[in-house]
Amino acid sequence: MKNKTVITICLGSSCYRRGNQTILEVIKNYLAEHDLSKEVEFKGQLCTDKCIEGPNLSIDDAKYSGFDTNSVIKVLNHHFFNK
Ligand code: FES
Repeated sequence: MKNKTVITICLGSSCYRRGNQTILEVIKNYLAEHDLSKEVEFKGQLCTDKCIEGPNLSIDDAKYSGFDTNSVIKVLNHHFFNK
C-alpha cells in the first residue's frame, strides 16, 4: 500500500497572516476537487521560528517557503500529477 502524502502547513500567527490563511483553504479545496483526501494527511503545525521565510509548509520531506496561492497549486500539480 502506498504511503500517504503528508502536507504540513504552519499555522503560527506570522505564517497565517503572510498567506497560510488562504493557502490552507486552497489546499483543502484542491484535495477535495481532485479526490485526494484519503491519500493525504493534511495537518497544521505551530511556529518553527522560520517566520521570516513564511508562509511555510512542507509536502513529505520537501519544505517550501514564500508561497502564494498560484505557486502552491503548481507544486501540488507537480507532486500529484507530475505536471
Ligand atoms: S509562524 Fe510559521 S514559522 Fe513562525
